[in-house]
Amino acid sequence: MAPELPSLSHILLGAVLLFISYYIYWQLTVGTNRRRMIRENGCKPVKKNSEYNGWIEELIGIKVFRENRKAFIQHTLLQSGLERFQRHGNTIKTRILGSDLYQTVEPEILKTVMATKFKDWNLPDRRKDAFVPVLGQGIFTTDGAAWHHSRELLRPNFTRSQVGDLATFEAHVSQLVSAIPRDGSTVDLQDLFFRLTMDSATEFLFGESTNSLAPSNTSNTRFAEAFNRSQEAIGEASRGGWLSTFFRESSFHDDVKYVHGFVDHFVQRGLNYRKTLDAEKAEAKSEERYVFLHELVKATSDPVQIRSELLNILLAGRDTTASLLSNTWFELSRKPDIWERLQSEVGKLGGEVPTYAQIKEMKYLRQVLNECLRLYPVVPGNARMAIVDTVLPLGGGDDGKSPLFVPAKTTLGWSAFAMQRRKDFYGEDADEFKPERWDTLRPGWEYLPFNGGPRICLGQQFALTEASYTTIRLMQEFSKIEQRDDGRPWTEWITLTCVGLNGVKVGLTPS
Ligand code: HEM
Repeated sequence: MAPELPSLSHILLGAVLLFISYYIYWQLTVGTNRRRMIRENGCKPVKKNSEYNGWIEELIGIKVFRENRKAFIQHTLLQSGLERFQRHGNTIKTRILGSDLYQTVEPEILKTVMATKFKDWNLPDRRKDAFVPVLGQGIFTTDGAAWHHSRELLRPNFTRSQVGDLATFEAHVSQLVSAIPRDGSTVDLQDLFFRLTMDSATEFLFGESTNSLAPSNTSNTRFAEAFNRSQEAIGEASRGGWLSTFFRESSFHDDVKYVHGFVDHFVQRGLNYRKTLDAEKAEAKSEERYVFLHELVKATSDPVQIRSELLNILLAGRDTTASLLSNTWFELSRKPDIWERLQSEVGKLGGEVPTYAQIKEMKYLRQVLNECLRLYPVVPGNARMAIVDTVLPLGGGDDGKSPLFVPAKTTLGWSAFAMQRRKDFYGEDADEFKPERWDTLRPGWEYLPFNGGPRICLGQQFALTEASYTTIRLMQEFSKIEQRDDGRPWTEWITLTCVGLNGVKVGLTPS
């Protein structure tokens, strides 16, 4: 006789019993542990964002997603986020697309996440899912041992490059100067800065420049175009998650293929170069011109890792520096007093190109760049995901002053843009561009344009040197600046970084 099949009611009963057993087990293990952590640390619940009440919002959190999307399209996402913190407090919890998102502008919390409890936090899965198809596994997309390995591999090169290969960089700055009309007609400096940093980054990383600022016969724009589009797709995927993969441009796969093929060509050359080196002398060999790839092949021969690291650094370093330069020149075009003061500092060089040591001495220029990164952080927001149950020192309770328990898998986002405009840290004039505030300002974790802790930006000195050098050289070449955009206010344009939507349209008068 055939065995009797279980009836539907038996299956349902079995499922319910299984669920109850799992729930009891979970309560006795994870739940008990969590309650103990909450009790022992005096944690209070995080304040919920009260604008999004109701069971539908509790369940799926669509409203805030739609609002953010709209603000993103209208180029007001950063400002609306800032106002949300002002309305609800410095740490809030929002339900968004079925998950809880914690958000903060509290320096103590960021210090905990980035430094004191660094090991409790990883990059969010969404970031990895978005970045890996283009960048591969590299410093920007990995955690734990893999990240540590990347960081160790790359760090020595940054110590050396801090000094900056200014002679090579000068060649690109000269091309930039040549691309600016000398009759005072309008030019968009932002466009030129993005080309400058692509040219200099490819030269620094691969040993060969895209030369996009050069007369067109020697330039390679295809790589820059494909890389830009791939970057836009990464940005969309970071914001929209897996849903955005359905709306990707049809050119995405071709672009990624082209970008990888382009870099692989240099990787192969680098590996051939490696073969020419006597293994023992490899480390000692020094070249006139610094090429990142040549240093990398001395440390590894894995072509995929080399390609990934090169792309990771290209992404990390190129737009960021171009955005910093653009935002700086946007302000310079509007502030004649700051322009004059900076001109007089630059004038002390007597028209000579600056050395690395001289750049370091230019106090006012540094203040201008610091202020620019405060008001317009080019990485305006960021996030981490808790990989274990953990406790933050602040953020709990209605006043946000009590410790806060954060369950594993929770994403914590922060806005450097909003935090760096907090009036309780920077004063009532926090929204104004005032480099002289840096005469006395010595901020801690409330100023985080380069992040902090073990994952602090590796290219900080590199970027500041490039931005300083370019600014000095342009100021030496041009004595007057005039803004040519009807005085429009700075409007955010968030890609992977953040820059002004309307570019930097100016007229420049040669010295
Ligand atoms: C104004 C210019 C720059 C700004 C504001 C900036 C900002 C940042 C920030 C906020 C991070 C942390 C990202 C995160 O952990 O989620 C970061 C990481 C990084 N940056 Fe920069 N960056 C700049 C320029 C550069 C340049 C020029 C390079 C290289 C040439 C570079 C290389 C890196 C690398 C390799 C990391 C990853 C560090 C790690 O995860 O260990 N950055 N940068």
